[in-house]
Amino acid sequence: MNHVLFNSDAIDMMRQLQDNSVTMTLTDIPYAVINREGGIRNMDKGDADVLTFDLHDFVEEIIRVTSGSIYIFCSSEQVSGIRKQLDDRLTTRHCIWEKTNPSPMHGQRFWLSSIENCVFARKAKATFNEHCQSAVWRESVERSIKNHPTPKSVLLMKRLIEASTNPNDIVLDPCMGSGSVGIACKLTDRQFWGCDISPEYVTAAKERIDCLDIEDNPWIKKLRKREKL
Ligand SMILES: C[S@@+](CC[C@H](N)C(=O)[O-])C[C@H]1O[C@@H](n2cnc3c(N)ncnc32)[C@H](O)[C@@H]1O
Repeated sequence: MNHVLFNSDAIDMMRQLQDNSVTMTLTDIPYAVINREGGIRNMDKGDADVLTFDLHDFVEEIIRVTSGSIYIFCSSEQVSGIRKQLDDRLTTRHCIWEKTNPSPMHGQRFWLSSIENCVFARKAKATFNEHCQSAVWRESVERSIKNHPTPKSVLLMKRLIEASTNPNDIVLDPCMGSGSVGIACKLTDRQFWGCDISPEYVTAAKERIDCLDIEDNPWIKKLRKREKL
């Protein structure tokens, strides 16, 4: 299966792609927060959380290059702007990832931070292989990933890929970080085109995707057992 990893700015990379050249875009952008004065407040996860591109241009490029479905994980502050931009032309849904094992707060009297937001949009002829499923996705956080501060659940990525593509289709993640979407593509026989501006994360993603070939990798064994792969 064809997997291509780019070390580049996401918008520059997408500008090299033809219209509708990927089946699905599944991405997880830096969760920087826009403050009341309109400035950007980056969160506390280091470089991975710094919004280094114009979000409007980024979403425009995703709409142009994607022929089927679009999933953009983002902060709650980013949801309405992204959804409004997509809503003008596509059918959209606000989806939630409910983490079934959220981080504990050491007894504090407060609700746990146990959800993440995702804006979904689809073009008219997009594949959709699930029927009447909730837009709240329940899946655990994989805490064993040490090479990125904000990795997404491979099992959740796998579910979304299987819902919105077929084998051999191309899935793009222009902000791939440690490559969770790429691993899910490899497990499901989809082609993966991934990009990250950080050379360290591109290396980390390559190592994680390549290590799937190592049959005695304990994490992969656990995943395969649970998923009956
Ligand atoms: C929230 S993280 C993605 C984490 C990923 N889903 C995973 O499972 O590891 C966002 C990523 O966007 C990358 N990024 C930030 N600015 C970028 C840009 N201009 N072009 C491409 N990637 C960028 C960061 O380096 C970071 O790895």
